[in-house]
Amino acid sequence: MASTEQARKTRTDKGDIAGRLLDWYDAHHRELPWRTGPLALAKGVRPEPYHVWLSEIMLQQTTVEAVKPYFRKFLEKWPTITDLAEAQSEDVMKTWAGLGYYSRARNLKKCADTVAKDMGGKFPDDEAGLRALPGVGAYTAAAIAAIAFGRRAIVIDGNVERVTARLFEIRTPLPLAKAEIRVALDDLVPDERPGDFAQAMMDLGATICTPKRPRCMLCPLLDDCEAVVAGDPELLPVKAEKQPKPARHGAAFVAFSRDGSILLRTRPEKGLLGGMSEVPTSDWTARQDGDKTVESAPFPADWRRAGSITHVFTHFSLELDVFRADVFRMDAPEGHRWSPISGVHDEALPTVMKKVIESAIPGATKRRH
Ligand code: ADE
Repeated sequence: MASTEQARKTRTDKGDIAGRLLDWYDAHHRELPWRTGPLALAKGVRPEPYHVWLSEIMLQQTTVEAVKPYFRKFLEKWPTITDLAEAQSEDVMKTWAGLGYYSRARNLKKCADTVAKDMGGKFPDDEAGLRALPGVGAYTAAAIAAIAFGRRAIVIDGNVERVTARLFEIRTPLPLAKAEIRVALDDLVPDERPGDFAQAMMDLGATICTPKRPRCMLCPLLDDCEAVVAGDPELLPVKAEKQPKPARHGAAFVAFSRDGSILLRTRPEKGLLGGMSEVPTSDWTARQDGDKTVESAPFPADWRRAGSITHVFTHFSLELDVFRADVFRMDAPEGHRWSPISGVHDEALPTVMKKVIESAIPGATKRRH
């Protein structure tokens, strides 16, 4: 059997990797609603920067499958960046509800306002200009520059990170490996079709070079892959051990009026889930003796325990004990409002609040046709 070193020598030239990957992409790319596809690109048709930007913002921390219906809905309601800039923020938040990480939606609106009003509706066409827009970080700027404007940019998301770490057998644990991965990838990014190259890496990572049980026999880069030679591609990339997330807990109160409304309030604009709707809750505290009882209910009533839910946020996990009270409708306490349960799916409810309401009133947040 050839030694690892010999095997490395017999493998093909690094310069061809991008070409092999692009050939594979031409035949096997995923059809996604924000793509025009390589065929259109060959005819000089580029995807709309508005579509690319919208999809990239939505795809931050969210899966392709989850994003598809939201992307379609946004384009249906706001076909151009100017339409989005003219939309009510409240309507944008509602339409975003369920995608999570709501600061993205607030920045999305800010960015639309900036591009529509200050830039004549045209996105900047390079990384530096894009990076200056609200909600556009280094990854997103690189992705938009490459995909929408054909700029050579190094686009690294989780899929690209995994493919590159395996291809070059980078064993340094993440996140330390990021710099090494960037250098290795920089060698591969072609001058021509950098946007397709980036998306080909993403598609390869999503469909073949998967985290578990990669389908190496179908991979266009099988002969190039150093992790395959080493025999353990599925063990890469190595990840530094994660610290467990701190836990917080509290109580949530679903007041259900006999005329079919629930009591809601709007969270402050700034901070976690800013501007979203919620039922009243106690503070969410990390203290063991923190308040999880009816003490912090919005008003005295026959509060009954309806269950408990957990939700994992980026920096902590939350457990809420849910209480329900069935009451006669009264004036809503200050800062609260009654919202008809039949239309509650139209409220800008974050997932954690949907879980709370569902545990107290099953089926309430599902849209009825
Ligand atoms: N994830 C982020 N951007 C993507 C894209 N353009 N195609 C597929 N997956 C993605």
